[in-house]
Amino acid sequence: MDVALLGGTGDIGAGLALRLAHDTDHAVVVGSRDPDRARERAEDYAATLADRGASGDLSGLGNADAATRADVVVLAVPPYHVRSTVESVADGLDDETVLVSPAVGIDRDDDGFHYDPPGAGSVTEFAADIAPADVPVVGAFHNLPAARLSNLDADLGLDVALLADDADAKATVRSLVADIEGLRPADAGGLANAAEIESLTPALLNLAANGHGHDLGPRFC
Ligand SMILES: NC(=O)c1ccc[n+]([C@@H]2O[C@H](COP(=O)([O-])OP(=O)(O)OC[C@H]3O[C@@H](n4cnc5c(N)ncnc54)[C@H](OP(=O)(O)O)[C@@H]3O)[C@@H](O)[C@H]2O)c1
Repeated sequence: MDVALLGGTGDIGAGLALRLAHDTDHAVVVGSRDPDRARERAEDYAATLADRGASGDLSGLGNADAATRADVVVLAVPPYHVRSTVESVADGLDDETVLVSPAVGIDRDDDGFHYDPPGAGSVTEFAADIAPADVPVVGAFHNLPAARLSNLDADLGLDVALLADDADAKATVRSLVADIEGLRPADAGGLANAAEIESLTPALLNLAANGHGHDLGPRFC
């Protein structure tokens, strides 16, 4: 499969790019608003793999070209930029494309981190609302710690909750997740359940901030 990581120049994009390129045969397309930045980051990721004597199928493109080429398109951008990002790539999406939303709305105050969903109920449902009607949306990767993903020496041993109303799209992402060593897909139901999964992320951040380790992620059993 071709997997596009829109905003793949950022933290979660780097982690997913490195793990996918290292562990799988999928073609990883790093997307960015700036195609030159996308190419540079793809070269950086390839160099990280080369330092370990590994290689992967990595390239960089502008977000729209990356999305047009890909079978799976991950919206690896901050939640408040999901709308503009989806709109900027919508022409390249169709019913054969699976759109993946890992974004979580989080606020922080003196007490800690708090879930801050959009009016749609969750960012995943928001992404589904604004995506072209025939494009299936899957929620995934919300609770993964980017730094642990990017550290290829770190064992993951984490679960990835999947949310989707389209069974085929969910199966596609389930298979992608299972291809990454140390990640286990976990079916969390339909898109209507996304808020419950997204809200685990600020909970994990609060646990980490209060001394329960760092780069925490979930294991559901
Ligand atoms: N960090 C984590 O541990 C983690 C874990 C799970 C889920 N997530 C979710 O994953 C998403 C990305 O998180 P992140 O930490 O990787 O974010 P980030 O590093 O702050 O940003 C990711 C990328 O978003 C793009 N971007 C920035 N401003 C933009 C704009 N105005 N319009 C469109 N794209 C813009 C940038 O790419 P270009 O400038 O190259 O276009 C940037 O590299 C978030 O929604 C977050 O909730 C993060």
